[in-house]
Amino acid sequence: MEKETCTFSYCARPEVVEHETDLLLIGGGMACCGAAFEATAWANPKKIRITMVDKAATDRSGAVAMGLSAINTYMGGNKVEDYVKYVRNDLMGIIREDLVFDLGRHVDNSVHLFEQWGLPIWKKGDDGFSLDGSQAKDAGKPALQDCKDDAEREKNVVRSGKWQIMINGESYKVIVAEAAKKALQANREATGVDQNHFERVFITRLLLDANKPNTIAGAIGFSVRENKVYIFKAKAMLLAPGGCVNVFRPRSIGEGMGRTWFPVWNSGSGYAMGAQIGAELTLMENRFVPARFKDGYGPVGAWFLFFKAKATDSNKDDYCANKEYIEDAKKKYGKYVDAMGTTIRNHLMMEAMIRGKGPIMMWTNEAMDIISKTFKEKLGDKEGAKRVKHLEAEAWEDFLDMTIAQVGMWAANNIEPDKVPSELIPSEPYLLGSHAGCAGFWVSGPGDIEGTPAEWSWGYNRMSTVNGLFMAGDTVGASGHKFSSGSHAEGRIAGKSATAYILDNMGFSPAIKEKVDDLVNEMYLPYEIYEKYKTYTTSPNHISVNPDFIKPDQYQKRLMKIADEYFGGCGTWFKTSKTMIEEGLKRLQLLKEDSNRLAASNLHELLRCWENYHRVLTAEAHARHILFREESRYPGYYYRSDKDFIDDDNWKCFTNSKYDAATDTWELKKVPYVQLFAL
Ligand code: FAD
Ligand code: ADX
Repeated sequence: MEKETCTFSYCARPEVVEHETDLLLIGGGMACCGAAFEATAWANPKKIRITMVDKAATDRSGAVAMGLSAINTYMGGNKVEDYVKYVRNDLMGIIREDLVFDLGRHVDNSVHLFEQWGLPIWKKGDDGFSLDGSQAKDAGKPALQDCKDDAEREKNVVRSGKWQIMINGESYKVIVAEAAKKALQANREATGVDQNHFERVFITRLLLDANKPNTIAGAIGFSVRENKVYIFKAKAMLLAPGGCVNVFRPRSIGEGMGRTWFPVWNSGSGYAMGAQIGAELTLMENRFVPARFKDGYGPVGAWFLFFKAKATDSNKDDYCANKEYIEDAKKKYGKYVDAMGTTIRNHLMMEAMIRGKGPIMMWTNEAMDIISKTFKEKLGDKEGAKRVKHLEAEAWEDFLDMTIAQVGMWAANNIEPDKVPSELIPSEPYLLGSHAGCAGFWVSGPGDIEGTPAEWSWGYNRMSTVNGLFMAGDTVGASGHKFSSGSHAEGRIAGKSATAYILDNMGFSPAIKEKVDDLVNEMYLPYEIYEKYKTYTTSPNHISVNPDFIKPDQYQKRLMKIADEYFGGCGTWFKTSKTMIEEGLKRLQLLKEDSNRLAASNLHELLRCWENYHRVLTAEAHARHILFREESRYPGYYYRSDKDFIDDDNWKCFTNSKYDAATDTWELKKVPYVQLFAL
């Protein structure tokens, strides 16, 4: 079919706004909010301009949108080295220990700031029972920042697990965003710039410099509310648009399909746009399959760790303690089974289900009974009952804070979780680098940690292999378990070093290679196609076949079907193989070609077209990495059925890739893993 071009013969040409800045922050999530806060502190005295651009409204954008009930990375009295070991264990032995250590030594400061900005953090009362953040304040409990040392902090916080602390976090993102917005305002005042915070602008492409090779110069995006295209020119950039959801067919179907665990608005823009300009990726075979409450995707961490709830198979056996499953797993995955990290726990859950011992149940009711009994024994019936009521409220808040839909699911299914257990299930896969996963870009490290290979620190901390292009949060690979606090801290690290990069390159004047008209034409092509061909069917906006175009919804379903069936989605119990991936890649190639036929009837659909295009490139990186790594490094996340074992002799290494957009080819290579911290 002939390649279409947009000549604006059928749709209206958008207004084009050019905005010049020094540091461009793409995304308004935890990482970019951290970067805005930190970078402005260094940039303002030097009159360096900082601009944030977010596809949504920053107050409620990104993965923390709905709020959270725990901060999953807080060192407190723990040793940073132990954090490195924990992350290494959970991610099957291969992480960039320099990046993880660097994060660990900085993360607590972000948490202390959150509390100063108004985030209520639970504290232990004098009687040992937990107090809400506001109660703790009334009771005169010290803020974490004001504790005399880490030992005192540790005494005060309420830990749900070794690394996690409990918060009243419904407004977490609003609080963090407010600090970022104030920082941006201070930057406007310091630099005299009118506007430096663009909300509801979706970035579609990064732009390299016309003169300096392999150097970032800008980005292009469009408003999802007005007919406006934005060209941003920048000396440096932080690319932090989160991870990627809806590559794989979700378990939810029909009208429920908008419900997934990962926020549906994080569509792999970071992975796709960075790859398109040649930034090196690492461990893109990794993914995250969260075990979650079925259908509502409610969180399990607080239930396992804080409420000590048990999850069992249909025999009421703890599948993670099942000797037979464990022995079988050890034959294939060796010592990694002992670590009992997230992937292995998933694997054992899947074993139980595959062997006919589903459904898996989380005994929320029994956990509540035990807590109630203990409280009453300790405090007497009346006071005990009062405390249990409070704790119950916390238990439900765990869902109301971050997964309101779970509460709706329970109500719809007549489930009272304090009376009956609830079903758990391994969800569909997501690609991310900040939760219990480590897909992302290969970045330069801090460079000061003993034993780090020199080639791991080629420039500024968290800079990718493209000059001036920095990463943080979900886009930094090989270093998971940062979570909300760590992503914020990493944004601060990246924002600070991007400012240093700008200071060292003050004379650099970014020049965009491409013609603006060509970029705008490419961006609006789906509009033109829709307007041109909409009359070729009587029903252009419904699911019908139009020989000339494909709507984003149809395109996305094709992608999900390919990913699910060929790349190891839940439809195949997360299993794939060399030959299946090769077959899937052929189909993905056809889908990529059809992106030239994507059609948008409004701005929202234009957004959907570009999101899906980003998803396709992310999916391709993921599939090519799984194909390259000839073992099953992450059982419970995915299996290469033809190589269902861990092979440390050949594959205890990073797998890095580089995409060449001009030739549409990928180059993959092994990069040696180096252990920096003793076992
Ligand atoms: P995000 O915070 O997701 O931000 C991404 C940003 O990019 C958003 O502002 C988005 O609007 C923007 N964006 C995306 N694409 C574009 C584009 N093309 N153009 C412009 N902007 C774009 N951590 C904890 O500590 N405790 C928890 O209890 C916890 N629970 C979680 C529950 C869920 C369901 C999820 C998904 C995560 C949870 N996390 C938790 C982890 C934490 O939320 C993430 O680690 C963190 O938000 C990652 O930060 P980020 O900045 O990389 O991405
Ligand atoms: S959340 O992002 O939705 O809050 P989740 O509920 O999975 O995530 O986990 C919160 C924290 O608890 C994470 O640090 C996770 O690694 C940890 N966690 C979850 N389940 C378990 C478990 N069974 N054992 C140990 N740690 C767990």
